[in-house]
Amino acid sequence: MQYINYIQKKFKQHELKIINISQRINQIEKDKETFDSIISEIKSSDGVMWAFPLYVFTVHSNYQRFIELIFERNVEDAFKGKYTSILATSIHFYDHTAVNYMNSICDDLNMNYVDYFSLSMYDLKKEDIRKNLLLFVQNYFEAIENEVITLKNYRPVKYSPISYIPEITHNKIDVLNKKVIIIADSLENNNLKNMLKKFRNLFSQNVELVNLQEIDIKGSCLGCLKCGYNYECVYTDKDDFINFYNSKLKTADIIVFAGTIKYRHLSSIWKKFFDRAFFNTHTPSLSGKQIGFIISGALNQIPNLKQILESYTQFQGCNLVGFITDEYDTSIEIDNQLHAFSYNLIKLSTVNYSKPATFLGVAGMKVFRDEIWGSIRFPFIADHRAYKSLNLYDFPQKNYKSRISNFILMLMIKFPSIRKEIYSNKIKFSMIKSLRKIVEDETT
Ligand SMILES: Cc1cc2nc3c(=O)[nH]c(=O)nc-3n(C[C@H](O)[C@H](O)[C@H](O)COP(=O)(O)O)c2cc1C
Repeated sequence: MQYINYIQKKFKQHELKIINISQRINQIEKDKETFDSIISEIKSSDGVMWAFPLYVFTVHSNYQRFIELIFERNVEDAFKGKYTSILATSIHFYDHTAVNYMNSICDDLNMNYVDYFSLSMYDLKKEDIRKNLLLFVQNYFEAIENEVITLKNYRPVKYSPISYIPEITHNKIDVLNKKVIIIADSLENNNLKNMLKKFRNLFSQNVELVNLQEIDIKGSCLGCLKCGYNYECVYTDKDDFINFYNSKLKTADIIVFAGTIKYRHLSSIWKKFFDRAFFNTHTPSLSGKQIGFIISGALNQIPNLKQILESYTQFQGCNLVGFITDEYDTSIEIDNQLHAFSYNLIKLSTVNYSKPATFLGVAGMKVFRDEIWGSIRFPFIADHRAYKSLNLYDFPQKNYKSRISNFILMLMIKFPSIRKEIYSNKIKFSMIKSLRKIVEDETT
């Protein structure tokens, strides 16, 4: 809001009509007049700037609910042709997936998407960023005035799934001593329902299915930061979410998330789950588990969502086993996919397998590490304690061995003859020397 207020102060000739969405979502959803008045404000506006703080890879679940309402209530036309831009604040942890999500929504709404500006929380203090922020806004207003042609970044999702009905009977898989849990919503969707039925039937033992819609969740994350001190949420003892998360998810060996894609994300109920799970703040709370997704929807046309889900598992320190969707031509293919998926979940859990994180997890943790160490250690004191004990403060400065060898080598290469010898003959060999030793020392 401070950025918006700043913009308003600098562009007095334009009126910024601020519509607060997330805090008022219950009223917006329940009271038709409130919803209609927002839509008529949008209709009469010259442009729509989507401004939001990042919440768990995208926008707050209430903001997402508003986006669902636009489509559910068929008021897309109010947005059509409007010039739009995105203003986000965050700590740059997956701000790109939030921007991608909102940009794709803008394209789905046939808006004229101009640009985004993704700010770090305190960027307003930086003169060069303030200057560029004003240029971004200036450019946006000029785009409206000049009716410029804008670029589309996302194609509409085309999704016409088969009607999945399990066909093959596979041999049952023993869950052994593993605790498997499925968390789902959208069970009214037949494809999802049948995929879950097939999935559960693949096991010799009963696999628990929890319907997110049946859990007593009083409200969405308030962003109050009370959890920062010791993971205690403002909703503790007020609803069942925390108990559910701690008793069902944290104790499971294998977790399957299941849902239906709604407008380029899992439902806003799922989003509420992700947001409310923030009572664990920036500390991984599902480490070592095997995770899989069973999704009804065009996941393969929405790589941004796939990346969000994969990144979530990597941040949590889980092993992603895979995604099963209903994007196949035949039920038999889905049957076989589900069978392979179930088999892998158990097998990989049994051997405690975990593949290393890719850039998604490695880079994400570096952002958190630096933030928790630095600017947000207060109020996130619980994270600071956890990061110390989990050895997540793996700053390169602590690597004394490489610091010493860098020091010596940088001295040596000051001599041209040594430099020539190192760069021409030694470098490649030296790089793999320590790895070769491990291979050589290993017994067959
Ligand atoms: C529940 C919660 C989830 C958040 N998730 C993210 C995130 O995924 N990525 C990120 O960079 N920042 C995240 N943040 C930081 C906020 O985006 C940042 O604090 C925000 O821009 C501040 O705006 P506000 O004061 O209006 O909440 C999160 C903050 C909260 C409270």
